[in-house]
Amino acid sequence: MTTPDNTTATSAQDETTEQPKYLRRIRSFVLREGRLTKGQQRSLELFWPTMGLEHQPQPYDFEQVFGRKADLVLEIGFGMGKSFVAMAKAAPELDFIGIEVHKPGVGACLGEAETEGVKNIRLFEHDAVEILNDSIADGSLTTIQLFFPDPWHKTRHHKRRIVQPDFVQVLRRKLKIGGVFHMATDWENYAEHMLEVMTAAEGYQNLATDNLYVPRPDNRPLTKFENRGVKLGHGVWDLMFKKTN
Ligand SMILES: C[S@@+](CC[C@H](N)C(=O)[O-])C[C@H]1O[C@@H](n2cnc3c(N)ncnc32)[C@H](O)[C@@H]1O
Repeated sequence: MTTPDNTTATSAQDETTEQPKYLRRIRSFVLREGRLTKGQQRSLELFWPTMGLEHQPQPYDFEQVFGRKADLVLEIGFGMGKSFVAMAKAAPELDFIGIEVHKPGVGACLGEAETEGVKNIRLFEHDAVEILNDSIADGSLTTIQLFFPDPWHKTRHHKRRIVQPDFVQVLRRKLKIGGVFHMATDWENYAEHMLEVMTAAEGYQNLATDNLYVPRPDNRPLTKFENRGVKLGHGVWDLMFKKTN
């Protein structure tokens, strides 16, 4: 399957056929033919021209994109976007960049932003690894959010987890000094993996007082996947790491 932006849908078989540019070839997602609702389709047609951004090989000037100078928050994998839009609405002084590969989620998020009258968001429908490497300037982000990433719970799929030593160094490059990488998950084993990768990573400081997990921050709305996990009786772990150098 080829999506409109020429992103080839991946499967276990074709993940090695991509261009050699990116070192990290194993993807954290599998694109499925997502059926768009009429509302999502309509939102994409009406609001993508003003809120959508295309992948480009050089960094965007976000002061120009948003028409002002503001701290930038980037969220990876916002899902249907409800909590992402709620955060942007609650912090109008910040500008929010969302990245999601799932087109129905992008459509839903655009519709939600319009309904809520939120203007301080822009969205990419693309692989976050490529957007970060190509389209985001180094040292430009105040916060990076990764909420309830796909846990890939089978051991043979752990290599697909997005939190990996190389990836967290890409994130560190994109953060300002003092900027924060905030993760949350409802999978204990993934929380432990995040903690292990981040504790070993150079240039980060754990913001948890006990060097483990931080209390759930008040400014993080309940996300769709968090809600699902909570209903299943899962715990929730938040991790916050500051870029120190
Ligand atoms: C389990 S869902 C969580 C969604 C949302 N954060 C929530 O908590 O409800 C993970 C999301 O990450 C997206 N995703 C996974 N890998 C991605 C990548 N490399 N770039 C952009 N989005 C990605 C998936 O499409 C999916 O929507």
